[in-house]
Amino acid sequence: MISHPAYAVEPWSVRETHLDLDVLAQSESVFALANGHIGLRANLDEGEPFGLPGTYLNSFYELRPLPYAEPGYGNPESGQTIVNVTNGKIIRLLVDDEPFDVRYGKLLAHERELDLRAGVLRRRAEWRSPAGASVRIRTTRLVSFMQRSAAAILYEVEPVDGPLRIVVQSELVANEAGAPEQDDPRAAAVLEAPLVAEHYFDRDTHMVLSHSTRRSKLLMAAGADHVIEGPESTEHTTESSSDVGRVTVATELADGESLRIVKFLAYGWSSQRSLPAVRDQVIGALAEARHTGWEGLLTGQREYLDRFWESADVELEGDTELQQAVRFALFHTLQAGARAEQRAIAAKGLTGPGYDGHTFWDTERFVLPVLTYTAPMAARDALRWRHATLDLARERARQLDHRGAAFPWRTIRGQECSGYWPAGTAAFHIDADIADAVARYEAATGDEEFDREVAIEILVETARLWLSLGHHDAQGRFRIDGVTGPDEYGALADNNVYTNLLAQKNLREAAAAVARHPDRAAELGADLEEAAAWRNAAENMVVPWDDQLGVHPQSENFTAHQAWDFDATSPDQYPLLLHFSYFDLYRKRVVKQADLVLALHWRGDAFTDEEKARDFEYYEALTVRDSSLSACTQAVIAAEVGHLELAYDYFGEAALMDLYDLEHNTRDGVHIASLAGAWLAAVAGFGGMRDHNGKLSFVPRLPPRLERLTFRILFRGRRLRVEVTKGEAVYTLLDGSPLEVTHHGEPVELSPNEPVARAIEQAPERPAPRQPVGRAPNRRGQ
Ligand code: BGC
Repeated sequence: MISHPAYAVEPWSVRETHLDLDVLAQSESVFALANGHIGLRANLDEGEPFGLPGTYLNSFYELRPLPYAEPGYGNPESGQTIVNVTNGKIIRLLVDDEPFDVRYGKLLAHERELDLRAGVLRRRAEWRSPAGASVRIRTTRLVSFMQRSAAAILYEVEPVDGPLRIVVQSELVANEAGAPEQDDPRAAAVLEAPLVAEHYFDRDTHMVLSHSTRRSKLLMAAGADHVIEGPESTEHTTESSSDVGRVTVATELADGESLRIVKFLAYGWSSQRSLPAVRDQVIGALAEARHTGWEGLLTGQREYLDRFWESADVELEGDTELQQAVRFALFHTLQAGARAEQRAIAAKGLTGPGYDGHTFWDTERFVLPVLTYTAPMAARDALRWRHATLDLARERARQLDHRGAAFPWRTIRGQECSGYWPAGTAAFHIDADIADAVARYEAATGDEEFDREVAIEILVETARLWLSLGHHDAQGRFRIDGVTGPDEYGALADNNVYTNLLAQKNLREAAAAVARHPDRAAELGADLEEAAAWRNAAENMVVPWDDQLGVHPQSENFTAHQAWDFDATSPDQYPLLLHFSYFDLYRKRVVKQADLVLALHWRGDAFTDEEKARDFEYYEALTVRDSSLSACTQAVIAAEVGHLELAYDYFGEAALMDLYDLEHNTRDGVHIASLAGAWLAAVAGFGGMRDHNGKLSFVPRLPPRLERLTFRILFRGRRLRVEVTKGEAVYTLLDGSPLEVTHHGEPVELSPNEPVARAIEQAPERPAPRQPVGRAPNRRGQ
């Protein structure tokens, strides 16, 4: 799978040393900048060529019809799709009348660098026009973590040999041409000209365009302001019309002279505020960015990221490629959620239109466990967003004839947007994933306000859903039938182990929350009697077991299904979903992505060591990893049961998902869950960190190819560093009050700045498990 690296390997940056137009769309995703609110794909400054143009505002969407061949009760009637909003990145350049375009003339040098500490994308180009005029262009782009509504670009141009006439056109462009529709369901529905012009104006170096959407009735504004520094002869004009704003700068540059333009960008949108209010917000944000200035924005960016890395960095000694990849992964995970502030975190973050910009369980299952320990405020805000959608989830549950809240499988603003219910609405486990993320955040931060305001309400309503979805059978056992678990090559199964075990935890946590906050519980109409019913369902939860094979079927009867014929499946028939009918996939023993193995991770407290080892081996032979959400979990459990080399291979796959474009769809946006999963593979895999019941435990073990792994986490106001080498682990509480953790099951007392070293117990030897033919993870360097 992994062939050749597209980018230079450096610990703190991703550098592309020449421009390869064949991977343009991929690199636009890889180099995308975002702060959770604004997302800019790394389209070239001059706007073309492009793979997929993309500028996004979190949750700014349009409605689109969801057509069905046959109507069905409860099918969502309309979908939501993320809109490519006004492009403020465009800066066109004319050199002695000729447009700078990498497809013409000669590109003498081209380099882009995503600096993970500075939080900027730098570009350097040297170009000779068809007429022989040469220029050097340097640009630096940032989307501010400090000023949520602001982005900025520094654009510098200078002649290489001899004077030049230079024109720079800095633009705002709405309704730019998109990319062609694709057949892949994982791509996005393309909307033609989704923005309706509402207002435009310009003055001096300043311009603002305001637009609305036709059906979702949202308003947005985009503005740009400029600081222009050039030789005395430099002039500028500004103009605007409904879909274009333009500041044109004309000058002549002698040798040694340069033109330097700082472009400040601001974006805002609202579903409620008036046009003047949204527009004025953008004008205000521009004024603020200009007041802070380019240097100030850079400094703020650096400070924000310094703080992040101090509590989140993962260091790997022995593998520089994965060192880079894991930091890249963390950077994108942060970018997806940092300033989302009660908006969703989408599967692609704000890096591309894939999956229509929808949010799935990816967020709570894979992304929030990472943010909880590295950027807890971002985790809190994402959960507050879920909380804000509770009424819609309650309505959906009513529509489906259930109690409590049924959260949508995929959505932007909270309404169910999945047009295919067996792999959508039926995946009720998303309720438990959300509840699990809520409880984890609460346990890891001790955030009491969140507990009272948010946690209890989500826990109660999700517990209610489980109680109404499941039932007690004649023996009193609690069954949850006909639901879809994480593995999307199975659907509508009875007693999916992952779903049932996570629901069990959900029910118990809801009961505990009711006991903690009886007054809040009363407001929600919950009492100890209802909580007792939840506890009873949890105690009697069915967890299927295959006695003959000595493994857990991922759902009832799964182990009895017909085997998938892997030998007859050719490499080009993967992903199977594009080549076989769901009918066939659903009734056979083939697994798209970790399901039972996912339960081994997040409900590891419900399995013995022996069960984990046997279950893992059994599912390895069936799992094809047609989802990018699988490798990281396989890494975590492979590490736990002692297959450290294999765990390392999966870690590599999760971390390199986008740098290597392993699923051939990075063009549509990076895979945020897989990237977050790289952290999980390192910290939960080789660090062996678990947080069952809010207690931190570690069973660290390094794979042969790593010399050292160091990671940091935030926990209840403390910062903890764990350094793992082959023989020992050293725990250091960097700040905060004393803490007890466990190391290989033994308690360890930690006091600030008193490192404690403990020896590592080796894992028992086991024969290496097998994967379906052709589906073993790649072993790098071989
Ligand atoms: C996976 C889902 C995931 C979705 C979005 C699908 O291919 O099977 O589990 O939520 O992609 O990432």
